[in-house]
Amino acid sequence: MKQKRKDNKKGNDNLHKKILNNEFEKNKAETKNTSEKIEGIMKATEKIEATKQETEILNMKKLQGFSYSFAIQKAAKLIQEGEVIVFPTETVYGLGANAYDPNAVRKIYLIKNRPSDNPLIVHVSSIDMAKTMVTEFNEDAEKLAKRFWPGPLTLILPKSAIVPDITTGGLDTIAIRMPDNKIALDIIKIASLPIAAPSANLSGKPSITNGKDAYEELNSVVPLIFDGGQCRIGIESTVLNLTSNPITILREGAVTRKQIEDVLRKKIEICKECDIALSPGMKYKHYSPKATVYLAKPRDSRMKTIIAVLEKTEKLIENEKKTMVVLSEEIPDRMKKQIEETISPLGKLVVFKSIRQMAHEIFKLFREADRKRYESIVIEGLFEDGIGSAVMDRIKRASDETI
Ligand code: TXA
Ligand code: MG
Repeated sequence: MKQKRKDNKKGNDNLHKKILNNEFEKNKAETKNTSEKIEGIMKATEKIEATKQETEILNMKKLQGFSYSFAIQKAAKLIQEGEVIVFPTETVYGLGANAYDPNAVRKIYLIKNRPSDNPLIVHVSSIDMAKTMVTEFNEDAEKLAKRFWPGPLTLILPKSAIVPDITTGGLDTIAIRMPDNKIALDIIKIASLPIAAPSANLSGKPSITNGKDAYEELNSVVPLIFDGGQCRIGIESTVLNLTSNPITILREGAVTRKQIEDVLRKKIEICKECDIALSPGMKYKHYSPKATVYLAKPRDSRMKTIIAVLEKTEKLIENEKKTMVVLSEEIPDRMKKQIEETISPLGKLVVFKSIRQMAHEIFKLFREADRKRYESIVIEGLFEDGIGSAVMDRIKRASDETI
């Protein structure tokens, strides 16, 4: 029933070292004389101690009735006490803390090594809770929340003064969404607090979409991880700026531009490149596995795109690179066999059943590539339509070269 792992005595040493190094680097740049330096090092050590702890991982799928409620109460209490926990949502896993507690939110930035000007998304369990954090919840917000919440749509609205600046990276707007996941909603409801939660990955790494990956990345830096299995959607929410004119999508997700336009009955924009200035999080490299990622832009026929993928793969294999080949949709079995025979043993072929399945598993695949030390990943690009557009956005951000 309970999966408390005992192997974290060794701890997440690499992560602790990274946090510590990072503090030292900051310290080196900021301080001048020796006593200030020593003081800085003491502070860094205190910080690292503050994030070191034994992690309990609970398999929420196996808990029912009383034991489920008990687990939720435990998480809610940790949130109320200013701790940071990991929980599933329908999009990706979140690393969450009380959105009203600046010290708790600071820990999120520290653990993720996230730049402090990159604002967090605040998760709520009701529209009323969202309204307490904004100065205006206008008619558009009302319509969108009624249609898409709980769900993968984040709304940027004018922030109320009661929300600490650190939660919104110093901006006067706030990003809010209601997740469509029972575990996440239950924690927020029982804690009676909005939860600020970025994706649970360390900055720059692919998002986390299952409990096992969460544990691997964050054991011994958070007290509790809820394993709720693989996330239903697998890529992060659509981020929509309601404070701009026209209303603009800053990050694409499972809720598409067309769906939003249908509800608002007006044209909105997708900000493909200018998101860098508007959504501060976008200026940092995202979603990238360690392997070199080659993205084959879609040609006018799928066969041509696949040929481009295979030609690149052949070259990589010739150069003895361990390579993962990723195709977005089914191909005939005969062709699959032929490719597998040609690229094995150095190459591995992954064929998704549909673009939706690709969204669901792409981050998991990137993490698997890291774990199995693939040196290259060659991916078939998608036409930017519906959820394909959001998946393509993530792949582009992960890619090193377009072919
Ligand atoms: O699906 C999701 O959205 C997941 C789950 C955990 O809810 N969360 C997530 O958070 O992806 P994060 O922190 O990885 O991405 C939040 C994005 C960042 O690009 C950030 O810059 C942007 O939203 N953002 C947050 N507040 C903003 C604001 N006030 N104005 C503009 N962009 C904002
Ligand atoms: Mg993220």
